[in-house]
Amino acid sequence: MRKKFIITIDGPAGAGKSTVSKILAKNLNYIYLDTGALYRALAYKSLKKNISLEDVDALAGLCSTTAVALKNFDGRIKVYVDGEDVEEKIRTEEVSMTASKISTYAVVREKLLDLQRKTGIRGGVVAEGRDMGSVVFPHAEYKFYLDAKIEERIKRRYKELLDKGSSVEYQSVQNDMLRRDKQDKQRKIAPLIIPDGAVIIDSDNLTVQGVVDKIASYISIK
Ligand code: DC
Repeated sequence: MRKKFIITIDGPAGAGKSTVSKILAKNLNYIYLDTGALYRALAYKSLKKNISLEDVDALAGLCSTTAVALKNFDGRIKVYVDGEDVEEKIRTEEVSMTASKISTYAVVREKLLDLQRKTGIRGGVVAEGRDMGSVVFPHAEYKFYLDAKIEERIKRRYKELLDKGSSVEYQSVQNDMLRRDKQDKQRKIAPLIIPDGAVIIDSDNLTVQGVVDKIASYISIK
């Protein structure tokens, strides 16, 4: 039987991680693990419950009473909060910013750690996020850090939101992206870093397929 690897893809928002990870997982017949969706799921619930993002006790309470689950549909994982499919509802800018904020707290990160590791335990997973290669799967066989220029990442995110029918302003996407970069990179616990042993891929001058091909060229599946 073929060995099933853990492949991690870390990087900032808008670098193209999700698109590339989904294609890679499909090509390899691996599970696609979108860990941002887990933080987004808790962010969604905290917004729904009107919890102050500065109130650590309230967030701890939310973590202990909220069921976050991942379900696998033919390799595509969907995220559920207390049994509700929240896939569509967690993709807004408000949820992005809230996810970035709550992910700075230890209680939130600890709640989600086991779930992520359990999903990857048998290998055969492409895990995408901010701390995949550094904290969640430090022993992953293949680690990548996907990056792109800030202007390019803002443009991509802006287009993605417009395509979804949002009437968001370019300036507000830019502000959010800069704030999120800072928050994700400067937080004390599991910040976004280039993990030890990761291959850095710059997606600026590459097409999506170009990035997929480049990543695949490092992976030897016998
Ligand atoms: O990848 P994303 O945009 O869906 O992630 C949303 C936020 O969740 C991100 O700004 C920070 C947090 N996050 C994290 O702290 N660790 C991860 N592994 C994934 C996401």
